[in-house]
Amino acid sequence: MLCVSYTVTLEENFLFFLVKNPFIKLSLDPTPILRQAQLMDSNVFGLGTHQLQAIDDFLRSTNFGSDHTQRVADLTASISNRDTSKTATILNDALQSFGALYPLALILEVEDVVKSVYADAGIDDAVRDTTLRDVRLWVDQYASQHNGAIGLDRVFWISRHLCAIILHLGRLQFEPKAFGYPYQIFQDSKDDTMIIVAGGGLSCDEDGYLTEDQNAAFQTTLLKDANHFSGHLVDPVQGRIEIQTTQLNLQDYRLIVDSETIVLHLHIPSGSPLTPSSIDESLAMANTYFPLISFIVCSSWLLDPALDLVTSQESNTRDFMHRFKKFPVMHDVPQIYERVFGFGMVEDDVLSFKATTSLQRMVQQALKNGVKFHTTGGYLTNLSN
Ligand SMILES: CC(C)(COP(=O)(O)OP(=O)(O)OC[C@H]1O[C@@H](n2cnc3c(N)ncnc32)[C@H](O)[C@@H]1OP(=O)(O)O)[C@@H](O)C(=O)NCCC(=O)NCCS
Repeated sequence: MLCVSYTVTLEENFLFFLVKNPFIKLSLDPTPILRQAQLMDSNVFGLGTHQLQAIDDFLRSTNFGSDHTQRVADLTASISNRDTSKTATILNDALQSFGALYPLALILEVEDVVKSVYADAGIDDAVRDTTLRDVRLWVDQYASQHNGAIGLDRVFWISRHLCAIILHLGRLQFEPKAFGYPYQIFQDSKDDTMIIVAGGGLSCDEDGYLTEDQNAAFQTTLLKDANHFSGHLVDPVQGRIEIQTTQLNLQDYRLIVDSETIVLHLHIPSGSPLTPSSIDESLAMANTYFPLISFIVCSSWLLDPALDLVTSQESNTRDFMHRFKKFPVMHDVPQIYERVFGFGMVEDDVLSFKATTSLQRMVQQALKNGVKFHTTGGYLTNLSN
């Protein structure tokens, strides 16, 4: 008789026990905790010791069922594929289900994956580190809005950094993406000047700013045949759509950008002063990292022509604003309220705010004088750097 002998390991015993007792439901997901190294070492997101400790405490005290490991796996896959939308969905689901500490915990879990995405894309470590420090910036912003609580709720924004889609180059951030605005930009073949033509069907108030349909003073039209088009031009200095239409000969113009064209979107994180030299330096870096995209687009309170009324000649914000050709963008509350006074502020809050900077004082005075502020879009061409 053949006698087979084998040893039964502890794990096999445990599996056997589970098979025999299917009614015993055990979670195979271990309690997630931060690795000791993560608690000790500096991380690429700029999170400090007390933030890491809070994340670790949160992980130890929360019951995620069996979902945590799956979430980490999904996040690893979406970041590796540089799929910002999937990444944002996973982080947003985590935020909605377990609160604002959980996205941070997940981001820490995939730190190595994020680093390898940057390495594979040939982005140097200094640019990577500055880009990912934006996580810390938004954690600080979250704390200032939530009585010092630790968390991250800007998950849609940060997903672009995790996937190395937005890059922080010098003072500014750049993101290649479709233009996305309802305008076409043409170049005059005779003298290279550019014109902005509004798409059809845009509702505008009497000053030519975009508005809701029910408040419209006029709606734009855009008519084209083989040789001509007739549409509403945009005043690139004031960033307003002209009420009258203009007829142009198509032969004289070359289409440079429409809403589908991939351009570089520029973002301005809070931080050091926006000096002209820091802007020049960033634009030069953008040329190096994105040599094929010279058309740069921004939408911000920092492009509002009304800054001329509330800043001094030598202010950085005024200099920055004047670099751009402008067009109107849809907005509800003007962004200057939230970025100069505080998130969630409306006009009454701004007026009663205890101003500490010259800009705040001047904006308050301008509002009292009836000035209207507008979040404004604009572009510049980054060819000369
Ligand atoms: C962009 C930014 C760095 C500009 O600051 P800056 O280079 O100092 O700007 P200026 O030279 O024009 O400043 C002129 C005055 O305005 C004040 N000022 C500028 N930005 C201000 C802000 N966001 N809030 C309050 N005051 C501000 C300055 O303190 C200065 O006032 P002072 O004369 O009393 O010292 C600053 O506004 C900032 O960090 N903003 C947050 C980020 C942001 O708004 N991004 C855009 C999102 S789309």
